[in-house]
Amino acid sequence: MARLGIDIGGTKIAAGVVDDAGRIVQRARRSTPTTNPADIDRTIADLYRELSPAADIRQVGLAAAGFVSSDRSTVLTAPNLPWRRYPLGEQVAALLPSGIDVVVENDANAAAWGEHPHGAGEPAGVSLMITVGTGIGGGIVSNGELQRGAFGAAAEVGHLTVVQDGRRCGCGKLGCWEAYGSGTALLDVANRELEGARADGRALRARRDADGGVLTGQHIADAASAGDPLASRLFAETAEWIGRGLASLTAILDPEVIVVGGGVADSEDLLIPGVRTAYASRVSGSEDRPAAQIVAASLGNDAGLIGAAALARTSRTGGLAAS
Ligand code: BGC
Ligand code: NA
Ligand code: ZN
Repeated sequence: MARLGIDIGGTKIAAGVVDDAGRIVQRARRSTPTTNPADIDRTIADLYRELSPAADIRQVGLAAAGFVSSDRSTVLTAPNLPWRRYPLGEQVAALLPSGIDVVVENDANAAAWGEHPHGAGEPAGVSLMITVGTGIGGGIVSNGELQRGAFGAAAEVGHLTVVQDGRRCGCGKLGCWEAYGSGTALLDVANRELEGARADGRALRARRDADGGVLTGQHIADAASAGDPLASRLFAETAEWIGRGLASLTAILDPEVIVVGGGVADSEDLLIPGVRTAYASRVSGSEDRPAAQIVAASLGNDAGLIGAAALARTSRTGGLAAS
């Protein structure tokens, strides 16, 4: 039976009908309404209406960019979206035909679940997934189980303090990792750099102005791929922040594999090598100990929706059955 997976990020909502083999058989997307939670609910219901004729859908998995309650129904808070103790599962279910199960999971947890191999031969040990986009999300799978913490908010790695009294984060605190290493931070720094008349910004400025006048991550990625020094430096700095953060997380988790996904993972070649270098230079004891292998998400930016659909198989309060 097919399930609907919906990944609700800071800028876009991606939905897909996912079959039993974990393949997306049909997809749709919308931009995320960012001021009113009820508009997000309506957008989700609309995506359901668009995609449900394709399959007999009884289960919907929502991957939400926020702190999700341990009963997998409420978004407690979200740094980059308007949810505050919002009963997302209930609100969405009320807009769908009756009898449809709606399960909510943190977007990065869902992505970690989507990337993790399930079923027979499933690896033991610990793996860490991070999603780099509007924020930085995290998901930990340990011995085949998603680690959700006491209150559902484990692996909120974007809010590790990396700079004492540093930049303000969407969560309201200062110096969080995602205020330095996310796609949003990359764009903010780029915009600041372009304000001055600096010569090395010429190529990036030209790309921006030839394409609507508003700088996007794609402009920076394209410029970096074309060898633009400023854009390359911006990616190198992002990679450095990410690699250092992962080294700190290694001090806690000692993971076997670290998967890097999210929107910024589309720029895999620009990012992953720098992340690996920064990681290797910062892992404590690196000369004498084994450390994680860092890889790009094999499902790319689809990991969240595929994982959400897989999680929707299981009851809200029940365990996270494999497959
Ligand atoms: C949120 C996380 C989310 C991540 C990625 C962070 O700002 O706190 O809940 O997983 O962004 O979307
Ligand atoms: Na998480
Ligand atoms: Zn924060």
